Amino acid sequence: MELGLKGKRALVMGASRGLGRGIAQALAAEGCDLILAARSAEKLRDAAAQIESQHGVKATVVGLDLSDAASVVAMVDTVKAMGGVDILLGNVGGPPPSGALGVAPETWLKHFESMVLNLIRVIDGLVPQMREKKWGRIITITSSGVVQPIPTLAMSNTLRASLVAFSKTLAGEVAADGVTVNVVLPGRIGTERVAELDQAAAARTGTTVAEASAKSAAAIPMKRYGKVEEFAAVCAFLAGVPAGYVTGSMIRVDGGLIASI
Ligand SMILES: NC(=O)c1ccc[n+]([C@@H]2O[C@H](COP(=O)([O-])OP(=O)(O)OC[C@H]3O[C@@H](n4cnc5c(N)ncnc54)[C@H](OP(=O)(O)O)[C@@H]3O)[C@@H](O)[C@H]2O)c1
Repeated sequence: MELGLKGKRALVMGASRGLGRGIAQALAAEGCDLILAARSAEKLRDAAAQIESQHGVKATVVGLDLSDAASVVAMVDTVKAMGGVDILLGNVGGPPPSGALGVAPETWLKHFESMVLNLIRVIDGLVPQMREKKWGRIITITSSGVVQPIPTLAMSNTLRASLVAFSKTLAGEVAADGVTVNVVLPGRIGTERVAELDQAAAARTGTTVAEASAKSAAAIPMKRYGKVEEFAAVCAFLAGVPAGYVTGSMIRVDGGLIASI
């Protein structure tokens, strides 16, 4: 299928590793130029060089620290000065584990700011240029936890759910301008972060990493973690021209993990 992404430009947040990096790769394979954002400048430069040489697209690196409003504003200004983007891939770092009770208000606020408010700042800053062009794609990565809250990840469940509500509201506001807004829900996709979580689970329970990983995979109907490429392919499709009538939706990429219909 031709996705119509040649010559379009995407901002991919959290592009230094994991899902963001995989999505950048998938978009570049379709001929899309990229702006790669995260904190790790060196990793981003490596990714950009590899993507440019492999796919012949242009990949620009911009620094971004979502915990710092000034950095977010500076990145938005830089991207606007470049003429904006056609596709915005919103992807943020995950918060630490916690229960629902006993989290300090300052901690809630800190993570609300970096995971929610500063992503809204980016979207708010870049959507007007999409509306002017009468074409745009806003894709936000959240988690299976927004549908089926994950015990021990109360902050993630709560804060990401607000991004779903924001995205749905925005979808209605910009649909007539050709801008779609969707949310993609990873279940357990085999990134470095998930490997680190398995290492932590193994250390906590006194098992091997392989045992912790096998136990985690056993809870998924497909009995395996998803591949980054499988997740990225869904995002690339949503970014493309053929997905123009998909908006205000939550798309699960979870191997059947979420129990509800
Ligand atoms: N993988 C899964 O199965 C899964 C499941 C559910 C939810 N999720 C969520 O989906 C997101 C991506 O997952 P992942 O597995 O790819 O995670 P990851 O490997 O930890 O990648 C997170 C990305 O976000 C960037 N980032 C982190 N903090 C940042 C900050 N303050 N400012 C700017 N960029 C920042 C990181 O780059 P720098 O460190 O260079 O800034 C990195 O590129 C995470 O929020 C994760 O919790 C993932």
